[in-house]
Amino acid sequence: MPTRADITYFGAGPAALPTDVLETAAQALLNYNNTGLGIAEHSHRSELATNIINEAKADLATFLDIPTDEYETIFMQAGGTGEFAASVYNLVGAWVARQHAAVLKELGADADEAKVVEALRKRVQSRLKLDYIVTGGWSLKAYQEAVRLLGPEYVNLAADARTINDGKFGKIPDQSTWKLSEDAALVYYCDNETVDGVEFPEFPSVLAPRADGSGPIVVADMSSNILSRRFPVRNYSLLFFGAQKNLGCTGVTVAVIKKSLLPPNTVQPTPTLLRKLGLPIPPIILQYETIAKNNSLYNTLSIFDVYIAGQVLKKLLRTFPDKVDGQQKVAEQKANLLYAALEAHPDVYRIVPDKSVRSKMNICFRVTKGGNIDEAEKAFLKEATSRGLTGLKGHRSVGGIRASNYNSIPLEGAQNLAKFIEDFAKA
Ligand SMILES: Cc1ncc(COP(=O)(O)O)c(C=O)c1O
Repeated sequence: MPTRADITYFGAGPAALPTDVLETAAQALLNYNNTGLGIAEHSHRSELATNIINEAKADLATFLDIPTDEYETIFMQAGGTGEFAASVYNLVGAWVARQHAAVLKELGADADEAKVVEALRKRVQSRLKLDYIVTGGWSLKAYQEAVRLLGPEYVNLAADARTINDGKFGKIPDQSTWKLSEDAALVYYCDNETVDGVEFPEFPSVLAPRADGSGPIVVADMSSNILSRRFPVRNYSLLFFGAQKNLGCTGVTVAVIKKSLLPPNTVQPTPTLLRKLGLPIPPIILQYETIAKNNSLYNTLSIFDVYIAGQVLKKLLRTFPDKVDGQQKVAEQKANLLYAALEAHPDVYRIVPDKSVRSKMNICFRVTKGGNIDEAEKAFLKEATSRGLTGLKGHRSVGGIRASNYNSIPLEGAQNLAKFIEDFAKA
C-alpha cells in the first residue's frame, strides 16, 4: 500500500494537493477553529464563511497583482464548462446594454419603446458577433457551447488551429490570420489547452488594448495554468478557472471580471428585453452581477472548497515572496527538465505540440520506442507506476502520455520523472 509520500501524481485534474494543506483541511473538516463544528457544517452565511471568502479573494489578488479597484472576483459552482455558458450570457448582455444606450442616444431617451426594441433587434441581427480562437479541445467546447446557446449566425470561428496542422491541434495560427469581428461581444481563447498541451507563449498582441484603453473584450480560460505564470490582468475583461488543477479541489470556479462590466457601470438587460430580441436568458446562478452583488453567496456555496483554495494561496504566498514570479520560475524549471529529457531521445519520444506553443503545465508526448506506440506506451505507464509516477495517461480523446506539471508537483517529482524518461529510453 503506497503512502502519499511514495507517489508523484501527474493527473490533469483533479490534481494532487499539497499534503500539509490537506492535513490542515482534514482537521478543519472535523472542528474548525475550535468551534466544535466542521467547516463544511457551518452556515455559508456565517461570519467565518464570509471571512474565508474575503481572505481567499484578497490573497488571490495579492499573488497575481489583480487591481481590486478595477476587478471583481467571484466564486461560482458550474465548473469551467459552466463558464463557457456564463461568458456568453453575460457578455452578450453587456453588448446589448451598450447597444441599448446607443439606440437611446440616437432616438432620444423618450423614444417609443417598440421603436427602440426594433432598432435593437436590427443591431443584434446585423452586428452581434462572438469571436473564438480555437486552439484545442477546450476552446473548441467553448465555441460549440456558444453556437448551441446563440445559433451559428452569431458565433465567429476567428481561428481554427487544426487548419494549419493536418487537422490536429498542436499549433497556434499566426495572429495576422485571425478573422476578428468589429465590436465583438467577446474574443475568447484558452490560455492553456490541457488536453493538447498547447499554451499561448504570451498575451496575443493583436488583442491588446489601445492607448485610450478601448479594445477587444478579451475572455480567457485559465483553468489549467492559473497561478503558474504572470499575465497582464488589465488586458482581460474576464478570466476564469476551475480550482481543481492549481488552486484547490473540484467544486469552485473563479471568475475575475472587469468592474466596468458590472453595475452600476453595466446593467444586464431585463429578461423581457432579451425575450423580445430572441436572445437567451441566463440562469440566475450564471449571472455575474447577481453573484458579485452577493459576494459569491447568492446560493449555498461550498465554503470547504473555498477554504482549501485559500490555504493553497496562503502557502504560495509564504513560499514565494516574489509571488507568482517565483512560482513561474519553478514551473519553467520543471517543464524545461521534462522537455529536455524527451528531446534527448527523439528515437523514443515524440512531443505532440509544436515547440513554439509547448505547455509548461501539460506535457503531452507519444512513446514511439520499437515502432508499436500502443505497446510502448503501455510499458511506459506500467514502469512509471512501479516507480510511483502515476496519472500519466493522456486524455481519452487523444491518447498518448501527459505529464501535468502543476504547482503541487515538487521539483523532486519532476526530476524523478525526467530520470525515468531517460532510463526508459536507454533500457
Ligand atoms: C482548460 C480547461 N477548461 C475547461 C475545463 C472544464 O472544466 P470543468 O470540468 O470544471 O467543467 C477543463 C477541464 O479539465 C480544462 O482543462
